[in-house]
Amino acid sequence: MGHILTEAQLDHFAHEGLLLIDNFLTNETAQQLLEEAKFWQAEEAFKKAGIGHLDKLHIQENYRADKIKWINKQDCLPATKIYMNTLEKLMQETSRAFFLSLKDFESMYAIYPRASFYKKHKDQFEHQAHRIISLVLYLNEDWQADDGGQLVIYKEDEKTIIEPIFNRLAIFKSELWHEVLPCQSERFSVTSWFKDQLNEVNFL
Ligand code: OGA
Ligand code: MN
Repeated sequence: MGHILTEAQLDHFAHEGLLLIDNFLTNETAQQLLEEAKFWQAEEAFKKAGIGHLDKLHIQENYRADKIKWINKQDCLPATKIYMNTLEKLMQETSRAFFLSLKDFESMYAIYPRASFYKKHKDQFEHQAHRIISLVLYLNEDWQADDGGQLVIYKEDEKTIIEPIFNRLAIFKSELWHEVLPCQSERFSVTSWFKDQLNEVNFL
């Protein structure tokens, strides 16, 4: 079985804590993944996202305004399944390459309605210290610069701005500060976290 990341990509991630891969999935799978997110949107399965951990979850609309639907990787639609299987391999690869003993990952579809954002935060905080690597796959066709919705990642003295374009995967260390700038169009993505601990099942 081939590798998902090249040596050069692994090196880049090791040095920068951040890696972008364009055209990550086949175009067909990415298209279908978007359709699957839209299917759940039509089913009204998306909920307002909260801040903090599961039982301590509270909604703060001035902090994050996205809507999410958790993915059950054992039971999901076909393109989502392909992506989940790819992430499983990617997790094993990064775990081995960086001696991280990653054990599991969690994923959600996310929709940012027009004018929504996610203020500067870390994915690794008090109640979610087990998130080690964050991954976001963007599903926005014909996304223009003035649609906004960029992911901004902060490191000491630099700031990296990432356009959320179709079939682009952003991988970054969960300990990095980052934010999502306000978007002017509806913005679709699938967000995942590689963890050093098994998932609890109580989000299902
Ligand atoms: C998150 C997040 C970034 C993005 O869901 O925690 O930071 O670009 N998402 O969607
Ligand atoms: Mn985040």
